[in-house]
Amino acid sequence: MIVAIDGPAGSGKSTVARLVAGRLKFQYIETGSMYRAVAWKADQVGIDPKNLDQVATVARDIQIEFKPAGDGSQRVFVEGKELTRDLKNETIGRMAAVVAANPEVRDILVSKQREMGARGDVVMDGRDIGTVVFPDAHKKFYLDADPVERARRRYDEMKEADPGLVFDQVVEQVRQRDHEDKTRATSPLKPAEDAVLIDTTALNIEEVVSKLVQAIEATP
Ligand code: C5P
Repeated sequence: MIVAIDGPAGSGKSTVARLVAGRLKFQYIETGSMYRAVAWKADQVGIDPKNLDQVATVARDIQIEFKPAGDGSQRVFVEGKELTRDLKNETIGRMAAVVAANPEVRDILVSKQREMGARGDVVMDGRDIGTVVFPDAHKKFYLDADPVERARRRYDEMKEADPGLVFDQVVEQVRQRDHEDKTRATSPLKPAEDAVLIDTTALNIEEVVSKLVQAIEATP
């Protein structure tokens, strides 16, 4: 069974997807980390993220491996080196949104995602899982929330590691990434027609997780 969870940055989808996967004993796959890994590698070797051919070569050659962490989250290894934490910062997130607009990169990573999904019961989160990667997923969700609330969640997550963080800048970054993800020509972020839409602005994590688990368990 494949459960697809899509939505914009800060919608809560990764946390929710991880917890739902844990409840159902499914494997959790966070596809954003694959775009982040390609952006990280391109940066390491001095490639401009906008250089379509060179970034596509990075995506073709990169070795990305996922291993489950104790809390059900996903540890990410690139060429054998653990990068779970390094990939999470907003600079890499912004670069990931640039490489994610590259159609060849998307083709390569979507194939890898389909292979991973074919291995069994999975919860996969991203931007195009229900629309492109698994259009026939058994259950699709699209999580969204007010942009200022999404920025507040990001700010709370990051401020310990970065005490100089300015809230208004985080709001701006969230709006910028929404714009990039929703307006790109290839696989723009949008809900699949048959996705269950959930606005998480006023909901806590447990409320969202329960809604999803109930909807999945009610699916024949
Ligand atoms: O979800 P996360 O913030 O880690 O994703 C980073 C970026 O990767 C997103 O802003 C988006 O541009 C891209 N992405 C994508 N398709 C996915 C997952 C992520 O385009 N399935």
